[in-house]
Amino acid sequence: MAKDRREPKQPGGGRSGEKSPDGKPGIGTRSVRAGEDSPNPYHSITQPIVQAATYTFRNSAELLDFKEGRIERDEYGRYGNPTVRAVERKLAALDEGEDALLFSSGMSAVTTTLLAFLAPGAHMILTEECYRRTRQFCTTLLSRYGVETSLVAPGDVQRVAALIRPETRLILTESPTNPYLHVIDLDALTGLARERGVKIMIDSTFATPYNQRPLTFGVDLVIHSGTKYLAGHNDVMAGAVVGGASLVSALRDLQGILGCVLDAHAAYLFLRGLKTFELRMARHNENGAAVARFLESHRKVRKVYYPGLEGHPSYKVAREQMSGHGGVVSFEIDGDFEASNAFIDRLRIPRIAPSLGGVESLVENVALMSYYELGPEGWREMGIADSLVRYSAGIEDADDIIADLKQSLDQV
Ligand SMILES: Cc1ncc(COP(=O)(O)O)c(C=O)c1O
Repeated sequence: MAKDRREPKQPGGGRSGEKSPDGKPGIGTRSVRAGEDSPNPYHSITQPIVQAATYTFRNSAELLDFKEGRIERDEYGRYGNPTVRAVERKLAALDEGEDALLFSSGMSAVTTTLLAFLAPGAHMILTEECYRRTRQFCTTLLSRYGVETSLVAPGDVQRVAALIRPETRLILTESPTNPYLHVIDLDALTGLARERGVKIMIDSTFATPYNQRPLTFGVDLVIHSGTKYLAGHNDVMAGAVVGGASLVSALRDLQGILGCVLDAHAAYLFLRGLKTFELRMARHNENGAAVARFLESHRKVRKVYYPGLEGHPSYKVAREQMSGHGGVVSFEIDGDFEASNAFIDRLRIPRIAPSLGGVESLVENVALMSYYELGPEGWREMGIADSLVRYSAGIEDADDIIADLKQSLDQV
C-alpha cells in the first residue's frame, strides 16, 4: 500500500516552517535542517567538508570492533564519507525514503542501480522517451551482458502489463519524461508492478521531491540526477538513489566495487544548494508555468509541452500526483531547424547549454543538442521535431524571461 500520501497541492508535505498533515517538518525545514550532524565538530553551523581518502584506527582492537560491527565509523573513502552522508540523510528526508546513496553523477546512479538488480537472462522495461544515455546504456551495453530491454511509450500501462514475463526484473521510467514531459500514472504502474512481482524505479529528476514523491506511491527506488534541480546551481555533477534501506544497502555494496562515489567538496556544494531547494523550486514552478502560458498564446509557437497546461496529455495525472510542474517547457516554433536555431540565438536571458534545473535559464534545440548525429531521418524516427526547443526556466524574473522570449518570437 502507498504510505502517507500527501495532498498533491502541498509541495513536499508543507511549506517552510509548517508541519505537513502527517506531522513531519515542511519541505523548507527539511531542506535546511534535515540530515546534518548536530552539533557539528568545532561547533560549526555548517557541515564540515571531510577531505579524507582514508580513516585511521587507534589500534587493532578498534579495527576488530569495527569489523565485528560493534562500532560504526568510516573506514575508506570509497565506502563512505561524513559530508556525503549528510547529503544522503537530507535527500532521504526530502523524498521520504529510509535511506539514500549519492553518486558521482546521475548516470552513475542509473547504471549502478541497473547493474545491481539485473543479471544475464533478465528482462527490463524502459520508457522509450527518456534521457538518451539511459536508453543507450540499456540497449547497447546491458544487451552485451545478456540483459534484454523492451521499450514502451510513456504511460502505456497495458503494454507494460503485456510485456512482463517471468524474467522481467524491473520497470524504469522517468516522470516527467524528457523532452515531452509525460507524467506517468504512478498508482497504475506500482499496482501492476506489485501484482506481477517486478521492481519499479522512477527517475524523478524533472519533478524533484518538491513536486512529486514516488516512494509514497509504493515505488521501490527513486533516482535523481542531482546535477539538476537538487544541487541547483549548474556547478556540481551528482546523482542519488533513494528508497528502502535494504535496496539502498545492496547499491552501496556495489558502489564500493564500482567506485562511482561523490567527492566531499562536491557533496558540500550539493548540501549548500539544497538549503534553498524549497525557495528555488517554488520559483522554477512559477516561471515554468508562466513561460508555458505565454508560449501557448503566441502565434509563432505551434505546440507547447508542459504538464500544467490543459492541452497536455498528462494534465489530469499531473494534477493528481504532482504539486507543481517544474521549470522545463518544450515547444515547437513555427519554423524549421534553422529558424529554431535563429530564435534561440536571439534570446538574451537563457544560455545555450545542455542540462536543466539550475538557477540560470538554459535553452537548446533538442535535435541539435542531443540528437545531432542521427540527422533529420533519425530525429523523425525518435519523434523529435527539428524545431523543438527545450527551455529550462531558471529563477530570473518571469517578466524578463517572457519579454525576452517575446522579442525573439516576434522576429520568427
Ligand atoms: C532524467 C535524467 N536522468 C539522468 C540524467 C543523467 O544525469 P547526469 O548528467 O547527472 O549524469 C539526466 C541528464 O540530463 C537526466 O535528464
